[in-house]
Amino acid sequence: MLRTAVLVSGGGTNLQAILDAKAAGRIPDAEIALVIASNPGAYALERAKQAGVPGVVVQKAKGEAIEAYGERLLAVLRENRIGLCVLAGFLTILPENVIRAYDHRILNIHPSLIPSFCGKGFYGLKVHEAALSYGVKVTGATVHFVNEIPDGGEIIAQKAVYIRPDDTPETLQRRVMEEAEWVLLPAAVEDVAKEIRNSEFGMRNLEL
Ligand code: GRF
Repeated sequence: MLRTAVLVSGGGTNLQAILDAKAAGRIPDAEIALVIASNPGAYALERAKQAGVPGVVVQKAKGEAIEAYGERLLAVLRENRIGLCVLAGFLTILPENVIRAYDHRILNIHPSLIPSFCGKGFYGLKVHEAALSYGVKVTGATVHFVNEIPDGGEIIAQKAVYIRPDDTPETLQRRVMEEAEWVLLPAAVEDVAKEIRNSEFGMRNLEL
């Protein structure tokens, strides 16, 4: 199994969807080996504890250089022999040294159909507010690889969600999570883990 870390900042419902899928046998190719939180208050840490997954906090210190923070993050990933990272509501921008070291090994979930309503400043409720104020009738979620462009990496999977006339940003956020994010992310983790394990790219080039 590919040792996988889930990076979180908040409530961790996407982490929960991954943990539930794992428990149900739907992610045979990945081991959820570590949860990394960007802050000690993240409820996701409690979810990790309940599931018996080790949790650590790696917080960017005020004034710390982004590359130095990246080195600390990389040290934790390497110490834990992590081969795949999943950003599940992780709000800290990943430094380039981490993105380079884990090329095509970092997934992110974004709550819209990329390239709509994505990129800098589009996070949380803002994404759904923007979709409603534009007036689109379909939105959804996207899982993509992470590169140096915010929400700009190669798309792995997308799922559409229809907007209802009476939707508010809150009701839409909830439905996009239930109908798209919680389905899409665990399935993408399995697909990517399987592909990495079956490819030459495999475990070797990370010295795992
Ligand atoms: C989700 O909407 C996800 O798409 C976005 O951040 C939110 C995280 O929610 N990137 P949770 O912490 O998984 O509940």
